[in-house]
Amino acid sequence: MSAPKKLFIKTYGCQMNVYDSERMAEALGGEGYVQTDTADDADMILLNTCHIREKAAEKVYSELGRFKPLKAENPDLKIGVAGCVAQAEGAEIIARQPMVDLVVGPQSYHRLPELERKAREGEKALDTDFPEEDKFDHLKTRPQARRGPTAFLTVQEGCDKFCAFCVVPYTRGAEVSRPAEGVMTEARDLVERGVREITLLGQNVNAYHGHDGGLAGLIWDLAEIDGLERIRFTTSHPNDMDEALIAAHGECEKLMPYLHLPVQAGSDKVLKAMNRKHTAEGYLRLIERIRAARPDLLLSGDFIVGFPGETEADFQATLDLVEEVGYGQAYSFKYSTRPGTPAAERAQVGEAEKNDRLQRLQALLNDQQRAAQDAMVGREVKVLFEKPGRQSGQMVGKSEYLHAVHVTSDKVERGDLRPVRIVQSNSNSLAGDVL
Ligand code: 5AD
Ligand code: SF4
Repeated sequence: MSAPKKLFIKTYGCQMNVYDSERMAEALGGEGYVQTDTADDADMILLNTCHIREKAAEKVYSELGRFKPLKAENPDLKIGVAGCVAQAEGAEIIARQPMVDLVVGPQSYHRLPELERKAREGEKALDTDFPEEDKFDHLKTRPQARRGPTAFLTVQEGCDKFCAFCVVPYTRGAEVSRPAEGVMTEARDLVERGVREITLLGQNVNAYHGHDGGLAGLIWDLAEIDGLERIRFTTSHPNDMDEALIAAHGECEKLMPYLHLPVQAGSDKVLKAMNRKHTAEGYLRLIERIRAARPDLLLSGDFIVGFPGETEADFQATLDLVEEVGYGQAYSFKYSTRPGTPAAERAQVGEAEKNDRLQRLQALLNDQQRAAQDAMVGREVKVLFEKPGRQSGQMVGKSEYLHAVHVTSDKVERGDLRPVRIVQSNSNSLAGDVL
């Protein structure tokens, strides 16, 4: 038997890419590849890329440049670009960086085995189709290897919302939901292999319609699986938070009290220009309803500053909204022009204003994150332990609220779900005592 070929995958961007990378590794596993964690001795390097902001996309080209010496040393090394940059730029990537052998979009990576063979034969292999067949029906099932306690599971892809800044509807395509049966089979398999927490993924996950009862229906079915202790989902659009999903936050014990619900901006004028199809007030009232169902829910969000046309007063409205909501954690970005999206054509806000606004917003969000963490001190939470900490005897896991919690104990193991009293709030994590 020939020695296994080595596959190095580097993943950029969102959690869905993390999931896709796992599935790509499995697809190539059937072709005799095993994963390696260094590019140096790889037979195939795959960059699973992100196109959401300009910086993310440019990283791909600088990374490819770094692989040049490896290719010079080993002419059999194959280099592939997958993910959203592959989808958006296709053959352009090979034109700009001829050492790339393979380009595969997020909807066609089940065809990787054929593409790999083509690349091995010395041809350029390119596939950025949105194929008729469902990739999930064609992907090999996961090998029976044990898994860590947490896993991502993609249930929905693509988006029909067309926010004016966003490339997702172009790179990931129209909104598609996986049928619930396939999701349930995959979830049961994960649980059998040691997973205790599943995060359901989708660009617009709460628009999920692969179950008659929508995302809430799927969550209730998943909650029936013995051994699955925790369910989370991300990312959601405010307009798709239906009554059943809000109620599930109050009633389904396995659904964790954490919700990532991006609003992007606080000014109605900007929200309209962004094509968000909701107002600031509508968002605030929605948060009230969700908090009525689950008062201790920790909220997370995404914000864009410096969207075309955003004035200082508009930006102030974002700060006001943040003040009113009180986020437990959040991500904020400077607006980045994405070719082909409507906002790219509009008059842009200056870089200095963008930087200034980002700093002010991040200062406020950091204060809120800090306050949310500090408020945990003295409280009892449940922690699902994932890995050893940096110091000896330390274990790290996540609370219900997705806070990282460190404990020092020789009695907890990876995969344990244990009550912990929080005793300290550090810069990006909490420390506690196992009860
Ligand atoms: N510029 C800046 N941020 C963006 N996002 C999406 N597109 C852009 C863009 N063009 C942010 C949004 C989204 C998150 C995933 O990335 O806040 O919710
Ligand atoms: Fe992009 Fe999210 Fe808007 Fe869809 S809802 S277009 S993924 S920002």
